[in-house]
Amino acid sequence: MITTERLRLRPLTETDVNVDWWVRLHADEEVKRFVGGYTREQAAARLRDIQQQWTQRGHGLCAVTLRSTGETIGRCGLHWWEDFGETEIGWTFARAHWGQGYATEAAQAVLAWGFGSLELTQITAMIHHGNTASSAVARRLGFTSLREDSVLNRPCTVYALARDDHPSPDRH
Ligand SMILES: CC(C)(COP(=O)(O)OP(=O)(O)OC[C@H]1O[C@@H](n2cnc3c(N)ncnc32)[C@H](O)[C@@H]1OP(=O)(O)O)[C@@H](O)C(=O)NCCC(=O)NCCS
Repeated sequence: MITTERLRLRPLTETDVNVDWWVRLHADEEVKRFVGGYTREQAAARLRDIQQQWTQRGHGLCAVTLRSTGETIGRCGLHWWEDFGETEIGWTFARAHWGQGYATEAAQAVLAWGFGSLELTQITAMIHHGNTASSAVARRLGFTSLREDSVLNRPCTVYALARDDHPSPDRH
């Protein structure tokens, strides 16, 4: 569990599929456009994978809730890509909560955890071309462009942040 000024982050598990918020979050056209939609079955499979990453690697994606109301407003966390040999940070929030700095706030806490407690040396962010809101979050956090690549069959820019370039308060 990670707590920030306005948010709480907790590990996602298989049971999250029962409340259907994952499916609802990804049903929005503007969310689906960049991260794809999910049927309930696809969500169950993805959540199983996420839970497995938590078990096997000690990190994964989190549900993000507002401390003030307890409402779940998005997801943020770390994902290990076997194909790329990289740990990626991801952020997706419900449209009603865009423009308030929640993605940046959640991601700052995830980076501090990743570089601090987990001692990762580099974290990437794979962002499809045209996703200006996501690129802005990455740049605001200090990420810079590492390479052009392709993910989920679409071209993307891989941004990266090195541990040495991150002033994590958790660093030993
Ligand atoms: C990517 C995504 C999470 C970005 O959301 P966002 O609301 O733009 O990002 P943040 O929550 O960090 O908010 C930043 C905005 O809030 C503003 N803001 C308001 N209060 C703020 C605060 N206290 N702190 C920081 N920023 C604040 C910023 O100025 C900025 O606005 P601007 O873009 O007009 O300059 C969102 O667009 C999304 O979920 N998209 C669909 C899924 C997706 O593409 N995910 C990423 C895949 S790579």
